[in-house]
Amino acid sequence: MKITVVGAGNVGATCAENIARMELAPEVVLLDIKEGFAEGKAMDMMQTAAIQGWETIITGTTGDYSKTAGSEVVVITSGLPRKPGMTREELIGTNAGIVRSVVENALKYSPNAIFVVISNPMDTMTYLAAKVSGLSKNKIIGMGGILDSSRFKYFLSQSMGVPASDLQGTVIGGHGDTTMIPLTRLATYQSSPVSSHVPSEKLAEIKAATMVGGATLTGLLGTSAWYAPGAAGAALVASIVRNEKKVFPCCVSLNGEYGQSDICLGVPVVIGKNGWEKIIDLQLNEEEQEAFNKSANAVRSMNAVLDSL
Ligand code: LAC
Repeated sequence: MKITVVGAGNVGATCAENIARMELAPEVVLLDIKEGFAEGKAMDMMQTAAIQGWETIITGTTGDYSKTAGSEVVVITSGLPRKPGMTREELIGTNAGIVRSVVENALKYSPNAIFVVISNPMDTMTYLAAKVSGLSKNKIIGMGGILDSSRFKYFLSQSMGVPASDLQGTVIGGHGDTTMIPLTRLATYQSSPVSSHVPSEKLAEIKAATMVGGATLTGLLGTSAWYAPGAAGAALVASIVRNEKKVFPCCVSLNGEYGQSDICLGVPVVIGKNGWEKIIDLQLNEEEQEAFNKSANAVRSMNAVLDSL
């Protein structure tokens, strides 16, 4: 069993490293187009194995998709990252061509793979991957909501002074600064609504900080974040290959669920060996549903750009 990560940049390498350390597969293939880059990253990571005591084999390759043959999961991280001041949406022209070619090449060697899309703008890249691959919709999963929800829980935990792991919180909708919807009403601290612990103005600040969480880090780092995106990608892969049936907010193809169709957007789904297996209906209230519809409209107009490329 093999897992492929395409793109050996910060997010891809971090994701591959998490996958290797978690021993989610005997072999992880890291592929990049930059000569020698994936091979170097793979070798560096493999040289931590003796220290950390794991046994995954990480293979690096410069663009040789035959090395990825028979992958159970293909994680796509390739494409340009954000620069400070840039939105995820501005990457669409360049990244669409890259993601299209990655899907086509990977499918030749792994026709049964489940695809995890991390490249930005993630909602549109997931939609594109679904169209290009022609695979069953359950096999295409965009990773954004796990990351955004983890950021949401981070900001809540900082404000409340409690561990993030004691919090439940979900971000649905698009993976964009203005399209994501942190569901403050449904967030809980060990079953108790966070609104009983955090004043409403503070909760509004936390929501806003979550929405620009990626941009804040891009400003600080000079490029996109990678630790949390990489870890989130690995958590998704873990639930697939171990058939964990975890519920994660992920970008999936909607067919009437949450009132939307012909779009890939973030909703909570059960993740197992077949990819995303079921959509959980959170019973949004009117305001939340309105925000979801607005998010869908914004993502839909981004998807329309694909036709003009
Ligand atoms: C972020 C990028 C990976 O949110 O979309 O950090």
